[in-house]
Amino acid sequence: MKIRGVVLAAVLVGVMFLGISCSNNAGSGSDSLKVGFSQIGAESAWRSAETDSIRNEAVKRGVDLKFSDAQQKQENQIKALRSFIAQRVDAIILAPVVETGWEPVLKEAKKAGIPVILVDRGVNVSDDSLYTTLIASDFVEEGRMAGKWLVEKLGGNGNIVELQGTPGAAPAIDRKKGFEEAVAESPGMKIVKSQTGEFTRSKGKEVMETYLSAARAEGLKIDAVYAHNDDMALGAVQAIEEAGLKPGSDIIIVSIDGVKAAFEAMVDGKLNVTVECNPLLGPAAFDAVEKAVAGESLEKKIIVRDEVFDQSVAAEVLPTRQY
Ligand code: AHR
Repeated sequence: MKIRGVVLAAVLVGVMFLGISCSNNAGSGSDSLKVGFSQIGAESAWRSAETDSIRNEAVKRGVDLKFSDAQQKQENQIKALRSFIAQRVDAIILAPVVETGWEPVLKEAKKAGIPVILVDRGVNVSDDSLYTTLIASDFVEEGRMAGKWLVEKLGGNGNIVELQGTPGAAPAIDRKKGFEEAVAESPGMKIVKSQTGEFTRSKGKEVMETYLSAARAEGLKIDAVYAHNDDMALGAVQAIEEAGLKPGSDIIIVSIDGVKAAFEAMVDGKLNVTVECNPLLGPAAFDAVEKAVAGESLEKKIIVRDEVFDQSVAAEVLPTRQY
């Protein structure tokens, strides 16, 4: 009787144990998932908001999140991915710093049966089965929206300086393309200078300082700044003020992201417009992870929709901004 009781208890424990490992293997719900997240860095307020969104969502869903900050270096992201593969994570979330150079490591992840969810930036690969899905904004459209707004504001004539994002990064390439498309329809709109400000406030300021002194020496009037993100635009605002000019009126400023600081600058009249690029990708990223782990199929691109906000709505919208 006593032995039968012990056997029964052992069987029960075994069944319970099997149940847990089954739900792990089946990936039912993400509470038991181990996920690697390779982030680019912390170059902008946008990037920090994206990191927070993914981290907070992982906590909410009970995911064991392995986080790696690549400090803007692709080689660090590749190392992180290899380490996630060695740790046999259930899925990888990757925000790729640049578009090219991912094939070998993505092949390794595929071989290990680990789905890779791309967030915010895309990759350039010959075989798109190397990643499961890309959750991102349409960067070309963002550039177009910024360009259209500026054409209207300047009545189709003006000298523009462009502060580009990280060289080789999808948003830098696409936002340039979209903006150029929009201004090409007005021959009076000229991009007179264009250089990377690396998506950071300090580099945006530095490049703008150089542009302002070069323009002064050349006798060139700068009518507008087009910055590929708000942080660089805010750096340009500082440079323009330090040069004794009024950002927002002497020089029109257009940027992309929609971070709180951009709304504050619009309320102060120092920035004219921002095109939103939503970084709150945590919920969508983990929905995709859960589906991929459960073997469900996903669309190759999940597009995040964006809006244009200008000074006329800034004060009203500012209190509702989440990042
Ligand atoms: O990939 C999105 C871009 O990267 C954001 O616009 C920018 O702020 C960030 O650093």
